[in-house]
Amino acid sequence: MGKLNLAEAYKDYFEIGAAVNPEVLESGGELIKSEFSSVTCENEMKCISVQPNMNEYTFERADKVVNFALENNLKVRGHTLVWHNQTGEWLFKDKQGADVSKETLYTRMKEHIDTVVKRYAGKVYCWDVINEAVSDGANEYLRVSSPYYKICGGEEFMEKAFIYAHEADPAALLFYNDYNTENPEKREKIYRLLKSFKDKNIPVHGAGLQCHYNIDFDVSELKKSIDLFSSLGIDIHITELDISIYKWGEENGLNFEVLPEDRMKIQAELYDKIFGLLRANKDKIGSVTFWGLNDGVSWLNGFPVKRNNFPLLFDKYNKPKEAYNRVIKF
Ligand code: GLA
Repeated sequence: MGKLNLAEAYKDYFEIGAAVNPEVLESGGELIKSEFSSVTCENEMKCISVQPNMNEYTFERADKVVNFALENNLKVRGHTLVWHNQTGEWLFKDKQGADVSKETLYTRMKEHIDTVVKRYAGKVYCWDVINEAVSDGANEYLRVSSPYYKICGGEEFMEKAFIYAHEADPAALLFYNDYNTENPEKREKIYRLLKSFKDKNIPVHGAGLQCHYNIDFDVSELKKSIDLFSSLGIDIHITELDISIYKWGEENGLNFEVLPEDRMKIQAELYDKIFGLLRANKDKIGSVTFWGLNDGVSWLNGFPVKRNNFPLLFDKYNKPKEAYNRVIKF
């Protein structure tokens, strides 16, 4: 008998999630309810969304997503508390526009984490506490251009963030989340960071692998990252999976009106391989989330350049694609 939906097919493996927003809940609510067991707010829980100005909290949009999830028995991944992007400048500046002291930044960071995490305690079961703090640069460990790094330096601000989040909700599972986690050099840096947290007993429970891939991605690199990070005794979540139908760096003006047959097949094959690997490692993996519900609403239609992209399992009409058939049939 064919499997009815993704969440059902994967119930003995891991949660199956989608990144959503209130508009997607309107247009795709039924599909989300029938195919997924977990949701993540695409933007609604980021610092710029929940605290655009100091002490001015705006939770309406995040609440909509959380309430939808609770009403429909879906889990919620919290994303994200500390990130150099999509964060109001106010966090790092005093009234004169100069950088605040490290002490002031920690006070503000604690206040933010406390307010957001406590609001959703018992509703959000895990948090991406830190997003993208490791550098992509050769010979650079952490992202030195981040205002957090500039003001606080090193690993300390992350350790404090994990501690504050743990104090705010001791039951929540706390993650370090990043992209390019399959790049050998970056993998080592992330491992070094996670190991340092573990050695100091910092409350970090998992590694979030974003998994924004292109159709020429080499799956064996993903396996190495899963093995290395989970050797620290932490959980792995795939947090933002999508597969661009363009190759890595293929930004030469190519812009397909529809998903070409050959690329559709390569994409489906790659999704198949990735899910085969994830299933084989289900003891290490707690959740797999797609970054978006369907091709029409994917951020990849605007990144890294504006062009049509088709990175997900459902087309813009919410119809399952060949990639969906491959993921659900095993
Ligand atoms: C990063 C962030 C996500 C999202 C994507 C693009 O991966 O973690 O929150 O902003 O970029 O949508």
